[in-house]
Amino acid sequence: LNILFSTSEAVPFAKTGGLADVSGTLPKALAKLGHNVVVVMPRYYCIDRSNLEPLNEPLIVSMGPMGELFAGVYRDYLPGSDVPIYLIDYEEFFGRSGLYADESSFSYTDNDLRFIFLSRSALELCKRLEFKPDIVHSNDWHTAVQPLLLKSCYAFDETFKDTASLLTIHNLQYQGQFFKDIVDVMEVGWEHFNPYELEAMDGVNLLKGGIFHADVVTTVSRKYAQEIQTPEFGFGLNEHICAHSHKLYGVLNGVDYDEWNPSVDPYIAKQYDIDNMSGKEVCKKDLQKRFNLPVRDNVPLIGFVGRLAEQKGIGLIAGVIEGFMHLDIQIVMLGTGEKWAEGFFSDIANRYPKKFACHIGYSNELAHKIEAGSDLFLMPSLFEPCGLNQIYSLRYGTLPIVRATGGLDDTIHNYDPATKGGNGFKFYHATTEALYQTVKWAVETYCYEPETYQLMQKRAMEARFDWEKSAKAYEDLYYYALYAKRVQNY
Ligand code: ADP
Ligand code: GLC
Repeated sequence: LNILFSTSEAVPFAKTGGLADVSGTLPKALAKLGHNVVVVMPRYYCIDRSNLEPLNEPLIVSMGPMGELFAGVYRDYLPGSDVPIYLIDYEEFFGRSGLYADESSFSYTDNDLRFIFLSRSALELCKRLEFKPDIVHSNDWHTAVQPLLLKSCYAFDETFKDTASLLTIHNLQYQGQFFKDIVDVMEVGWEHFNPYELEAMDGVNLLKGGIFHADVVTTVSRKYAQEIQTPEFGFGLNEHICAHSHKLYGVLNGVDYDEWNPSVDPYIAKQYDIDNMSGKEVCKKDLQKRFNLPVRDNVPLIGFVGRLAEQKGIGLIAGVIEGFMHLDIQIVMLGTGEKWAEGFFSDIANRYPKKFACHIGYSNELAHKIEAGSDLFLMPSLFEPCGLNQIYSLRYGTLPIVRATGGLDDTIHNYDPATKGGNGFKFYHATTEALYQTVKWAVETYCYEPETYQLMQKRAMEARFDWEKSAKAYEDLYYYALYAKRVQNY
């Protein structure tokens, strides 16, 4: 199949979260299955274009009242593959240091224009390359307008006449809600501005429109596909999603074991694997030193890596942190995000320098060191579409402590004292009490049942979440989308 994969971020070019990991690896797994994949994303300032190959002529992208805009295009390849990635260059929209927000975390006020432009540019690029996609795979609200574009202004275009669409929701919290005047910019026609398609609260909701028009909609775990049909997790779109549940599927993300593998990881103090775990002790010491914590091998060390956003359960951690500080444990936190949380956790680190350390910022190297050097990994998310860090943790033998939601629930099996089964520790209610008790339970298992802990560690490290399996699931859904599209055309 010919697949256009449109995304707002992809490793190693630009990343704010797991979407980048998925966009940088899934296309390679699809290519290995024999498909022709073309990836398209913006050329932000963080991407150095001096070594990239420019396309000769700019793309001409029509943006309604803004007229025709000229986009530069650079080509590169996803590392270690021949999958091309095209970077859309347009100074006014993407010539900025941030991807979606400025240094103070304020979203750019023209994000609607920026990503409608990206969405259209990707389709224009297909025309330019004479690449007739069988599938347009859009991701999150940023490119969610594409399924509608295919059914409106590009419907009679020779390039797209047989193209089906698949939209992946990586996070329903972000929906692309904007003023309604962007309907003109989208050039899709005002007939699509109605409560079944784009309209929401007198504005345009791009994700809502995408869900309506995509031939297939996916989320990044099965559990999350169920959850988003409920008011608790639906962010106001649950009824809309229920109405389209016949075409909604959950495909769990894979992980890139070339990057997240303790036996070859170049960032960690000493490599290790199931048959020789001595390196993990070295990594723990190294982590304690790096974060100025007392170097002790028998104290349970708990790691946290992630965006400091409500989604990640940082409110729960903040609520119970004083309680944690009465336990004989150490906690290492790496994250950036909400300002209150950055200040709050820095303050805790100052007050409890022997027990709590944090690095406010983004560091891939530290993320690897924390995965390797910790004994337990904390991920108490309020919701989690998939979550990658808990899967990385399994591979590093760092048992996850998670809330049973979304992908966390699908990937982590609770410790069962009767059978000694499980690969982590789960709690269900999003309360500080449940979090506290579960951390205590995990810590006690580590301290007083070392054999059980090691058994669980081994089981965790043996588990595999390869992209190949997920890519095959997407492949099936692509064929299903094509079928659905043909049925509609009759
Ligand atoms: P989300 O996409 O919701 O942020 P995921 O668990 O899917 O959550 O993916 C997060 C990705 O971003 C992981 O690869 C994680 O290691 C990385 N990450 C998040 N915050 C940081 C940080 N402060 N420093 C380094 N890596 C980070
Ligand atoms: C989102 C979700 C996260 C998921 C990632 C990649 O950012 O919050 O759970 O793993 O997308 O799909």
